[in-house]
Amino acid sequence: MSEMWNSPDKFNREALLWDENPRRRSLALAVAKAIIASVNPAKTMRAMEFGCGTGLVTLEIAQLVRSVSAIDTSSEMLAVLSQKIQSSQRANIETTCVDLSQSPDFMTQHAKRFDLIYSSMTLHHVDDTAGFLNKISNLLSPGGLIALADLDHEDGSFHDDPLEKVHHGFDRTVLAIQLKAAGLENILFETIYTLEKVNSSGVSASYPVFLVTATRAMS
Ligand SMILES: C[S@@+](CC[C@H](N)C(=O)[O-])C[C@H]1O[C@@H](n2cnc3c(N)ncnc32)[C@H](O)[C@@H]1O
Repeated sequence: MSEMWNSPDKFNREALLWDENPRRRSLALAVAKAIIASVNPAKTMRAMEFGCGTGLVTLEIAQLVRSVSAIDTSSEMLAVLSQKIQSSQRANIETTCVDLSQSPDFMTQHAKRFDLIYSSMTLHHVDDTAGFLNKISNLLSPGGLIALADLDHEDGSFHDDPLEKVHHGFDRTVLAIQLKAAGLENILFETIYTLEKVNSSGVSASYPVFLVTATRAMS
């Protein structure tokens, strides 16, 4: 049981078996397809994924862009991804174990560096959503794109551990206001997937997942 926001321990423990859950694999594939359809990744792009986990989404996107900086706070999730990078010889993915909300150095070194920043099911693990969106917006080049997939607002039954600190999904209107305040425009939401699972109350339930895309203003 965890009482902390972003406890790497939980994901470190889950890393080796992460990919064995077919629901995770099929969600990741749906997210990758939706990102590809929405932002049209190009071979010139430097991309970043935050909360990349074992790279289920990144391994799909990396084939289409110049490079991916794959970031996570769990060293064990990144260790699984590193093994996949080695065995697939995909040399354009670089892993970094860092929490962007706690790392001013990373922010300074990578300011305006990325043409595309994406993530899947990670934003709800970040305590200060508005502050975090500001940070990633500052990492985007002018005209750069974000594509974030996460849960729509839910009743709190999605996560099994009642003590785990997470957002219970997001209200799209509130998130759009935060994205705009972070200097992003052309904000578009679409429903890209519906997760079906037996929830923490033992009931089979549906949880819609959105993809929001937006563009960093040119100036
Ligand atoms: C629900 S998992 C999703 C993993 C992966 N995106 C996937 O779809 O399989 C959330 C991931 O975000 C990472 N994470 C949580 N908080 C983070 C933060 N503040 N910065 C970077 N990664 C974070 C966790 O370690 C975990 O790997």
